Amino acid sequence: MAKVLIIGSGAREHTIAQTFQRSPQVDEVFVAPGNYGMKTDGISPVAIETNDFPALIKFAKDQQIDLTFVGNEAPLVAGAVDAFEAAGLAIFGPNQQAAKLEGSKAFMKKLLADANIPTAKAKTVTSLTDAKVVADEFGYPVVVKTDALAAGKGVSIHQTKVAADEFLTNLYQKEPHAKLVIEEYLEGFEFSIFSLVGKDQVVHAPIAHDYKRRFEADKGPNTGGMGSYSPVVQVSKQNLELALNQLVMPTLDAMKKQGTPFYGVLYTGVMLTKSGPKVIEFNVRFGDPETQVVLPQLQSDFYTLIQGLLNGKLVQPVWQNTDTYLGVVLVNPNYPAPNHQLYPVPSFSDNLVVNYASIKSEANQMMSDGGRVLTTVVHAPTLDLARQKIYSILDQTKMGLAYRNDIGKLN
Ligand code: AMP
Ligand code: GLY
Repeated sequence: MAKVLIIGSGAREHTIAQTFQRSPQVDEVFVAPGNYGMKTDGISPVAIETNDFPALIKFAKDQQIDLTFVGNEAPLVAGAVDAFEAAGLAIFGPNQQAAKLEGSKAFMKKLLADANIPTAKAKTVTSLTDAKVVADEFGYPVVVKTDALAAGKGVSIHQTKVAADEFLTNLYQKEPHAKLVIEEYLEGFEFSIFSLVGKDQVVHAPIAHDYKRRFEADKGPNTGGMGSYSPVVQVSKQNLELALNQLVMPTLDAMKKQGTPFYGVLYTGVMLTKSGPKVIEFNVRFGDPETQVVLPQLQSDFYTLIQGLLNGKLVQPVWQNTDTYLGVVLVNPNYPAPNHQLYPVPSFSDNLVVNYASIKSEANQMMSDGGRVLTTVVHAPTLDLARQKIYSILDQTKMGLAYRNDIGKLN
């Protein structure tokens, strides 16, 4: 029987752990550092931080871990895969070079430009004067992104020149040489593709739609994601094929050609514009909260799938195709602003899957311990039915936590 180690701590990692647990080949799943809530499912949290590679490697060796799977981007960008491989351990994910697709917007934009892959026009700037010139050139609304990792919060969209000027002026006052990517605003329907990439094969999971803004009707600041559903019936087969053939596969080819081949999970954020699909972003791991609605759809063995991709054995995953899976994220009411107030975690009816994120225990009661507390997931034959089902449960549950009440509504 196999032992699996997952690196990360959130609801996404809880789902990845559950998916490995469903494999008849796996008997133990550890998550470093994981969280207290995962214990309710028999998953073992391990008190090692995601960037402490020597301690993670020692744990993997001591416990004779057969496979390590990285959930979040920071360890990948910091070289977790390189470190594990150098220690002779099996790990699924991109190495440090390939993880730049997410770690550096400038790297990603150059790759796309060189390979002629459709994406928003973008320019990197390091001064207020240049930032204003480029914003004017692209017109308004305009998108401003920080170059480094920002957990989904490094992006801001400014509707007018006045708003953009004010934002940029403030930013450069605080940080006079800030490196920013200024982007043309793309209009359209947004969805995410998750591609599992092995040595000579690529398979794609069902696509997902994510709700990134904090409040109903897509108002308020960008967050790591407030809810999600999958599959996405609004995206036709033809448009999905276009996105795969014009965006995802050419990117993987370009990475290979330039000597930084990508292995692991490639998350392509796509905007379906009037002139076809365009890349919004790449992430080098599964999405959160999308994973919570995507992985439960896998009917075949996840462990066999990942080992097959790592070892070049032909994989043929089977996904369900009758239901829509819908997830709603429960957050601290103040999220995404920092807040240290703790809330008790409510108990839900059995008709709901709960994936825990920021949880600790106080006197044996689960308490919230951060902004994103947990994801709740249901499935039903249609998106509408899934939405009715989840809100009929959430709206009857007494709690201090907050959630968006329009996940699954089409805006
Ligand atoms: P990113 O961190 O690049 O994924 O951006 C976060 C979110 O901001 C995306 O999921 C989009 O909803 C939005 N966004 C980013 N870039 C653009 C763009 N060029 N045009 C329109 N919306 C964008
Ligand atoms: N849900 C967006 C992300 O995982 O980056």
